[in-house]
Amino acid sequence: MSVIELSGLTKDYPTGFLHLRRVRALDGLSLAVERGEIFGFLGGNGAGKTTAIKVLMRLMTPTAGTARILGHDVTEAGVRARVGYLPEQPYFYDYLTARELVEYCAELFGYGRAARRARAAALLRRVELDEAAWDRQLRKFSKGMLQRVGLAQALVNDPEVVVLDEPMSGLDPIGRRQVRDLIAGLRASGVTVFFSSHIIADIEVLCDRVAIVQRGRLAHLGRLDELRQRVDASGRLEITVAGASVAALADAVRKVEGARVTATPAGARIEVLTEQHVDAALAAARECGARLVAVQPVRQSLEELFVGEGPRALHAD
Ligand SMILES: Nc1ncnc2c1ncn2[C@@H]1O[C@H](COP(=O)(O)OP(=O)(O)OP(=O)(O)O)[C@@H](O)[C@H]1O
Ligand SMILES: [Mg+2]
Repeated sequence: MSVIELSGLTKDYPTGFLHLRRVRALDGLSLAVERGEIFGFLGGNGAGKTTAIKVLMRLMTPTAGTARILGHDVTEAGVRARVGYLPEQPYFYDYLTARELVEYCAELFGYGRAARRARAAALLRRVELDEAAWDRQLRKFSKGMLQRVGLAQALVNDPEVVVLDEPMSGLDPIGRRQVRDLIAGLRASGVTVFFSSHIIADIEVLCDRVAIVQRGRLAHLGRLDELRQRVDASGRLEITVAGASVAALADAVRKVEGARVTATPAGARIEVLTEQHVDAALAAARECGARLVAVQPVRQSLEELFVGEGPRALHAD
């Protein structure tokens, strides 16, 4: 049994004048997350991540398809109590303190007075919110501090599954690392984590598997290293040179099919289509006085997997 199962999820938002037009934010999205995984849900802005998460959290009904958590349809009562959720833009009561908010959440999950005091303290410590801030009102918190409080409330019920919508957003590098460690710690205690992000670095160090969504569709699914291999398999090579101007190099390699020159801090980089083009490009570069620094396969960034257009407008019908 998969812990999270999205099956054929489609969501159309009504838009425009009189809501006569619709935008398809999710388009037949299917994926499954297995127990104990840290699963990265990637995609550019507007790809549909938050929409899928809202359907999963039952904050929104899909136009078509189903979402299941721990074997239960998300519309079934009870399953939500086993899930922790951090919304994309957590909104809290501004005049509560961090401690009060987490205690309040603990109360909702049935903790008694003494137990919730201890529970809140343990959680705030776990998310590494500075103890001096525990009794300050949330309206005085920075985004990063609020994010930590949001994480603390997501963990209040000791969830088996945690769904986090951009948990690292608004955090500085130290904060990102702390949240990363926290997520890794959740996995160590057997919790399944599903989180959305568009920050590749955060995903690389954490995720067992990732799904990349583009325009509401599943574009890629698999282990990150497999996806990386797929992008690396282009066969293109880059030649790093020094000692010649970019303009002169661009002119010199013009006769080499598909070669492109870009400036680098130390010189220039010539990208060629295949290994067969390396000699010709290098010879051309040497003619204008360039010195070879390195030849290596082009490591395309995973960001290229992200690239997609916005959602498709559907015709009014
Ligand atoms: N309430 C809404 N009404 C109309 N369109 C919406 C609504 N919410 C989202 N959309 C559209 O659906 C698409 C998917 O949005 P969604 O918020 O799910 O993307 P996302 O992947 O979470 O993006 P981001 O990385 O910016 O958070 C976007 O094009 C967005 O404009
Ligand atoms: Mg979002």
